[in-house]
Parts: sequence; C-alpha cells; structure tokens
Amino acid sequence: MTDTTSNQMWGGRFAAGPDAIMEAINASIRFDQRMAAQDIASSRAHAAMLAATGVITGSDAQAIREGLLTVLSEIEAGTFQFSTALEDIHMNVEARLKEIIGEPAGRLHTGRSRNDQVATDFKLWVRDQLDAADASLVALIRALLVQAGAGTDWVMPGFTHLQTAQPVTWGHHMMAYVEMFGRDLSRVREARARMNESPLGAAALAGTSFPIDRDMTAALLGFDRPAANSMDAVADRDFALEFLSTASICAMHLSRFAEELVIWSSAQFQFVTLSDRFSTGSSIMPQKKNPDAAELIRAKVGRIFGALTGLMMVMKGLPLTYSKDMQEDKEQVFDTADSWMLAMAAMESMVKDMTVNRDNLAAAAGSGFSTATDLADWLVRVLGMPFREAHRITGVLVAMAETKMCDLCDLTLGDMQSIHAGITDDVFSVLTVENSVSSRMSYGGTAPARVRAQIARWKERIAWRTSHHLYLPCWGLPHAVWMANRSGPDLTAVWRSGQAG
Ligand code: ARG
Repeated sequence: MTDTTSNQMWGGRFAAGPDAIMEAINASIRFDQRMAAQDIASSRAHAAMLAATGVITGSDAQAIREGLLTVLSEIEAGTFQFSTALEDIHMNVEARLKEIIGEPAGRLHTGRSRNDQVATDFKLWVRDQLDAADASLVALIRALLVQAGAGTDWVMPGFTHLQTAQPVTWGHHMMAYVEMFGRDLSRVREARARMNESPLGAAALAGTSFPIDRDMTAALLGFDRPAANSMDAVADRDFALEFLSTASICAMHLSRFAEELVIWSSAQFQFVTLSDRFSTGSSIMPQKKNPDAAELIRAKVGRIFGALTGLMMVMKGLPLTYSKDMQEDKEQVFDTADSWMLAMAAMESMVKDMTVNRDNLAAAAGSGFSTATDLADWLVRVLGMPFREAHRITGVLVAMAETKMCDLCDLTLGDMQSIHAGITDDVFSVLTVENSVSSRMSYGGTAPARVRAQIARWKERIAWRTSHHLYLPCWGLPHAVWMANRSGPDLTAVWRSGQAG
C-alpha cells in the first residue's frame, strides 16, 4: 500500500510519499527497534545538554526527557506501535514523543542529525554487547578452571594430526582453551576501550553552529571523550567490524572446542559423556545420543564469520561520510550478538555438565606408543646419544613392539638390548605415562605442577574484574544504558558539579 502523504520528519520539500517498495527497502524499523533503549538514552543526554548550554529551555528539556521515558515504558510494555512509514527507530521515537508532549519534541533534533544519532545508538548497543561478551567469557573461563583443577594429573593422549603424539594432562588441555578464551577476553576489552568515543554532536557530518557541549553528552553516556573528527564520527563503523572480528575469532575457538567434544563423546573415544540436557536422541536409532549443542556451536562460526565478511564488503569503497549502505550494518551485528552469546552460554553449561571418563583417558594415554619421545630423550640423556640417532633407534623399537603387538613398556630388556646394547633397566622408568607427563616441567609444559601454577595465575587474573560490568536484571539492559534512562535530571546535576569541582 502506498502512503501518499509526505514524510512528517523530512517531508518539507516532498510533494508525495514514497512508493511502497521504496518504503520496504528503505525502512529499518523492523530490526533497529532493538536499539530503542539506546536511542532514548542518547536523546535524553542530548536534551539535557541542549538545556545546559542554553540552546533550549530547561522546561522543554524536562518535557522531552520525561516524555522519552514514557516512550520507553510503552516500548518495554509492548504497546508501542512501530510504523514502517516512519522508517527507523529514531523517527518512530521522535514522532511518538511529539504525540505525547507536543511542540517541545520538535526542538530535540537541534544540533544533531540522524547520522550522529545512529552512530551513537549503535555504538552504545555494541558496547553493551561487548560487556555481555566480557561477562560470558569470564564465566566460561571460570568453568574451564574448575574442570582443569579437577584433573591436573589425569593423563590423556595429546594429539597432532589427530594421531597420538605424547601424553598430556586433562588440566593442561583445558588450560589451552583458557588461554584462547583469555585472548578473546582481552580483544573484547581492547575493542571496548578503542570504540568508546562519542559521535553525538558531529551532526550530519560537519559539526554544528549551535554552542553544544560534546564533552557533556559523552560523559552522560559513559563515553571516554567525544570523537575528534565529525566526518569520521558519522562514517566510522570500525567498532562494528571489530565486534564482528572479535566474535569471529572467539567463535572459531568455540568451534574447535565443540569439535573436540563431538570426537570425545563418540563411542570410539568415550573420553567424556555429555549430559542429557545438551544431547538429543535419534528418531530411528534407539542407541543414539547426539551432541547437537556441540555441533551447533561448531557451526555458529559460519554465520558469524559471514557477518564479518558481509559488513567488510558493505563498508569497502564507501566515500565519506554517511551513506545509506551503512544501514546494512545492523542485522549482521544483531545476529552475531545472538549467536555468539548463545554459543558461549551453551559451551559454559556443557563444560560444567560433562562427565570426564578418567579411566578411558588414562587407557588411551598409553596407547599409540605415546611415550616414544620419552624413550628417545632417555637415550640422549643417559647414553649421551645424538637426538637424531636416538630417534632412529626408538623407531626400530616401536616397529618391534608393533610386530609383537605390545606397548613399548611390554618389551623386555633383552628386546631393547638387541637393538642397542647400552640400554639398561632404568629405561622403563620413563615409559609410563605418569612419569612422562610429570617430567615435562619446562615452562608452559604439561607437568601437573606447571598446570596448577597456571590455574592459580588465571584465578588471580580473572578475579579483579566483573563488579563494574554488573548486569541488572531489568530487560537484560546493561548498567550504563539503564542508568542513563533511569536517573532523573539529577544526572545532569551530578555531571555539572563534577565539571565545577
Ligand atoms: N536508519 C538509518 C541507518 O540505520 C539512520 C540514519 C539515516 N540517515 C540518513 N541521512 N538517512 O543508517
């Protein structure tokens, strides 16, 4: 259906309304309504600033700020009527504000544009998600630290090429993922610190002639400072790209871990048993218990990485400053946030819930001649042999054990001496997996003592944070935006007194 009336927000020079297809391709309200709370927070900050700088009156600002809270409560209650004709969340909110408070609503958009407005709202949204990712990663790391702590000395095979390589400990394997998710956590924190500059007040692209105070709106919205270049401020989507790349790398880590859980929970491995809560049965094969949650985590990286590539392609070649192409930034980021948070939560729960079959790990640890390197190292250490020669002799002994269908430790001393006369009984001390792992005391090695030290280091590293990123239960909104919308005019007063002092 074609709306024949011109748009009430920018319709001054337009005689007719848009074609229905134009409206459909142009409107973003279907998805950008997810930024409603952020839009209202940034508008409330802007209104407070306009009054503080004398651009609008205090009573207009108060009407705007209170009216915006009414709009927010309607959106939260689900009674708000979103309109496609009004294009996006910014114009939907402003139009409703006009219905509620009348004339003062028209003064809100003084000294700003939708270009700096959308950049600000979207940044606030992405920043909230980085804080949520921060909390999720900390929870996942904590769950892994518990798993690692339980099995610092449980032996299991370590693989290269998915072939048995050397014995390692369960704790060491878990701590490898702690390192990965720890790097993800630092990427999240660095991205947050880098993006935390306010675009608000950049206006359309060139700044404004009104005597606005960008430091004030930046402070009210929890930004560290205003973005320094108005053209860059409205054209920049690096923060969204960094969010997507950080999510992509983390999703890749999650995917690798998920793949290990799929392998480990198979009937052939039986290293772990996934809980019923994270598995499904088969409609035809009664014996089946499928690791669906792990498989879906393994798959999520596909769409997340697709979103990163997608937005990179949208942004490449765009001339400065804002182009409508940039409206295509949101759905990819929203979908990534949903997939990423869900994948982290599912992984955390699976890590907490899974049963580790310690005996199966130990049985597998000794198979596949996993202590062959220990034998070669013994020949070097005790007999002073060059490593290459030790490697060759060990290879001959492995072949002998293979022929006899036994393990290295089942060969007799006579067998060993038939290959090299200097070998003594002492060699058997290094052929057990327990001795193998505890001997790997080099920094970063799998020895239980080393693993315990790493767990202690991580516990300390992870403990200092979280209190300032605490989530409030109210509609899953993070602290900063919730505060910006909930504190009354006193927020401005607090800011002013801080400036005066
Ligand atoms: N819905 C738009 C977006 O998401 C808001 C900015 C529109 N600005 C403009 N000059 N048309 O990008």
